[in-house]
Amino acid sequence: MDKPKNDLLIRAAHREPIERTPIWLMRQAGRYMPEYRALRQKAGSFMNFYKNVELSVEATILPYKILGVDASIIFSDILTPLESIGMKFEFREGEGPVFLNPIEAPDDILKLKKFDPKDVYYVGEIIKGVNQALNRAIPTIGFCGAPFTLAAYMIEGRTSRDFKKAKSFMYNHPDAFKELLDKLSDMLIKYLNFQIESGADAVQIFDSWGGYLSPDDYREFALPPIKKIIKEIKRDYQPVIHFTRGVAGFFDDMITSGADVYSVDWMIDLTDVKKKLNGKAAAQGNLDPIVLYADKEVIKEKAVAILNKWGEDTGHIFNLGHGLMPDMEVEKVKYLVKVVQEESRR
Ligand code: CP3
Repeated sequence: MDKPKNDLLIRAAHREPIERTPIWLMRQAGRYMPEYRALRQKAGSFMNFYKNVELSVEATILPYKILGVDASIIFSDILTPLESIGMKFEFREGEGPVFLNPIEAPDDILKLKKFDPKDVYYVGEIIKGVNQALNRAIPTIGFCGAPFTLAAYMIEGRTSRDFKKAKSFMYNHPDAFKELLDKLSDMLIKYLNFQIESGADAVQIFDSWGGYLSPDDYREFALPPIKKIIKEIKRDYQPVIHFTRGVAGFFDDMITSGADVYSVDWMIDLTDVKKKLNGKAAAQGNLDPIVLYADKEVIKEKAVAILNKWGEDTGHIFNLGHGLMPDMEVEKVKYLVKVVQEESRR
């Protein structure tokens, strides 16, 4: 695979020299953009949208065209590959994902089918389509959900504040829960390899709910499958980015996963992150997304504070600590991208 023309993200991930800090934003292709809403309307539902290659390619490249970000993340969802193993779900307006056949008992895990990348051929087509449409201008990031986060959704059946059902299942049936994590790891190794073979320049593992565990449970359940995935995927230059929320409680553990880049939320000081990484891995983050509701002067002040914490060394990719929200102003998001690109010039 030829490298993208702007490869700042890849160089920063490998801690090679950079002229400025690269920036992209989680959920950068989303409802806050009128252009996204128009595509979403055309597709009808979110699921029809991410299965439609042409519309998904368009959604993926919108943030490059409108914001000028340094990477695109393919338009899809962490739940996408679960259909292939037999999970049935839908995305409901205002409610998020809802499973029609959630995992209720250990036996349900035995019924899961083997993952076949052919069932998600459209994800590969989207990656190829984006690389073609952008003529390799910037890196294309592929992604997946981490096993713990996916298992949490499959058992809980929907998004939740405390994942009560999923965590009680984990405590009551730890072995079955681990078997589920294992099946998901095997699926995700194949899924990420498929994305890399299709032309992804980097992959991000989203462990959105792993941070909701105690440090002991994080070490026992969430971390080992991520380590396994990172070890097993086949890649050449493509870095792995590992994202978790709530990292402050177990950052020392998280950074043993073997990732090239650790994506952190805003509840940990980037100065501490840098000290702990000690030049052995890169970091991504960590602006509080809510800052984007503030005035431009505040946005600039908070963004520059983060840039200053890292300093002039390579190894930092600017991002938010979590995703953009549907009611954010495009103008301010655009401003953040510009400020980071200007103020980080070496
Ligand atoms: O970052 C991007 O722009 C790429 C696309 C992307 C989406 N979801 C699109 C999406 C990515 C990387 C995700 C990851 C994802 N999906 C995560 C991990 C990141 C995180 O937020 O912690 C999780 C937990 C999910 C599961 C999920 N998908 C939920 C809980 C929801 C509903 C919440 C919401 O924001 O509506 C979704 C739906 C979803 N995924 C939308 C988009 C653009 C909204 C769909 C729509 O109605 O248009």
